[in-house]
Amino acid sequence: MEENGLKDTVLGLYHLKKWREILKLNENSSDNGALKLLWVWPDEKNLFFIKRIVNDLACEGISSIGCGCGLLEWIINEATGLPVLGYEVNQEWWESKYSNPKFIKLNYVLNINEECLDSKYAILFCYFNDRDAFQKYIKNYRGNVVFIIGPGKENWKHTDPKPFSPDFGGCEWDLYSYQEVKNTGDYIAVYVRHNNYLNI
Ligand SMILES: C[S@@+](CC[C@H](N)C(=O)[O-])C[C@H]1O[C@@H](n2cnc3c(N)ncnc32)[C@H](O)[C@@H]1O
Repeated sequence: MEENGLKDTVLGLYHLKKWREILKLNENSSDNGALKLLWVWPDEKNLFFIKRIVNDLACEGISSIGCGCGLLEWIINEATGLPVLGYEVNQEWWESKYSNPKFIKLNYVLNINEECLDSKYAILFCYFNDRDAFQKYIKNYRGNVVFIIGPGKENWKHTDPKPFSPDFGGCEWDLYSYQEVKNTGDYIAVYVRHNNYLNI
């Protein structure tokens, strides 16, 4: 399917709330413009892994940092019922006629500080690629659960943080669980704050 064709098909299915059909459009992760909408196309098993972790670790929802157009976030919410908030920078671009369609309301971060993140929500970084900003978010986040989605050890794609070697900038976090995204070589890794694990 051509790039614009894919975008239009996704939009049509979005309006019909058919998230399963959207995931089927890129079941084999061949890039036909799909990465412009979403870097990682999960399956239902991945979505329910995320839901189980959020529930097990007593979070009330997910704040997704660098959510792009918010397609993953919309799908997670539709599939699991979890509240998902999306955060982005560059409001001018996202509100311009050149940007991708937006699938959720975007919250624009002007200043990374304590108020910008709800400590009762897990935070999620999917193919984020700014280590300094990641570390600032971590420093200002008072909650206990961080999801990192990105390439596994064998995968050449660039991202920062990486799921299995994130640099938390001196803060201590422990790997709690992980799951591969289908069989793509991308992973969802979950970290919990060191020593807070027993309080969760
Ligand atoms: C590679 S894209 C990934 C988008 C989306 N998560 C996905 O998986 O399709 C990285 C996104 O992070 C956003 N970003 C970069 N720096 C950011 C910051 N400091 N705070 C929030 N978002 C940021 C960029 O605008 C971009 O949309």
